[in-house]
Amino acid sequence: MDSNGIQAATISSESQERFHLPVMSKEVVDHLDLPEDAVVVDATIGLGGHSEQLLREYPSISKLIGMDVDHAATSLAKGRLSASGEKVEIVNRNFIHIKNIVNSMGIDYVDGIVADLGISSFQLERSGKGFSFKKKEFLDMRMDAGLQFSAYDLVNDMKVEELEYIIKEYGEEKFARKIAKSIVKSRAKKPIQTSLDLASIISNSIPKKFHPKKTHPATKTFQALRISINNELDNLAIFIKEAVKILNTGARLAIISFHSLEDRIVKNMFRKLDSPCICPSDLPVCACGKVQQATRIARSVVKPRKSEVLANPRARSAKMRVIEGI
Ligand SMILES: C[S@@+](CC[C@H](N)C(=O)[O-])C[C@H]1O[C@@H](n2cnc3c(N)ncnc32)[C@H](O)[C@@H]1O
Repeated sequence: MDSNGIQAATISSESQERFHLPVMSKEVVDHLDLPEDAVVVDATIGLGGHSEQLLREYPSISKLIGMDVDHAATSLAKGRLSASGEKVEIVNRNFIHIKNIVNSMGIDYVDGIVADLGISSFQLERSGKGFSFKKKEFLDMRMDAGLQFSAYDLVNDMKVEELEYIIKEYGEEKFARKIAKSIVKSRAKKPIQTSLDLASIISNSIPKKFHPKKTHPATKTFQALRISINNELDNLAIFIKEAVKILNTGARLAIISFHSLEDRIVKNMFRKLDSPCICPSDLPVCACGKVQQATRIARSVVKPRKSEVLANPRARSAKMRVIEGI
């Protein structure tokens, strides 16, 4: 039993599929295009859906290294993938350390890496960490329980300007100022404890006529807080830099993102890695000395099939980009 009260071995693979369907798993399998005896990394193993699919489709995989910051996730994935024995090694670590983790296992280069960003449906629905605006849970939102600050700390301690900045930058929320002010006004009466309390403060601060038709009015603010608490955008940039260093020639890195902030980072960093020179275009001779570090495979973004979006609405905003080591 882990600290979240989850007993890995008792949750079957089918139940885990109910908690979280892996997004674009066919596309991941196809685009990684693993060689025989491959060493592969699932940098966000979650409930092990992508890993399970990779192990099934590439039975010759010699080693699968899984990582996740969420202890409950690694515990569940270990249970799910236990039948694959010692070739699966799962660590409860942040993917920013991917190179060190892989090297510490005596491996210099790998044949494929997948990262499926964001949170799993399990974390949203079952973690009890206040990720969902539909549930009354303590406002935590830390994927990694070791992080210093929770959503409760941010929402109850930050200055109004800081809150506004986070909600605007990481949520791309038009009403960031109004929401930040309402939060500060409300917490002056009593601390904001739960996800439902926060969701209702946010809803009430956006005029009804501007409530989005298809999503909850708190969606963007919840996304913003989660990104900030878990340092998601900085982590993503570090991860890409480190992951590329351990790609074998011809090995691929596939990243699935779920919102434009993440996709922009992946797109821009992949473009730079693929470019031999980053000098301004009006410079007659190259002065940057940069060399091409990888090649983009799917130049345009890969999106889920319509049938997948129908079966799993979480897939609707997914975008996958792939790069290959040279
Ligand atoms: C969308 S889920 C992955 C689901 C998984 N592909 C599956 O099929 O079950 C994303 C996972 O990434 C983890 N995560 C987020 N940031 C991370 C980081 N910096 N390092 C490692 N894992 C991270 C989350 O805890 C979550 O379990």
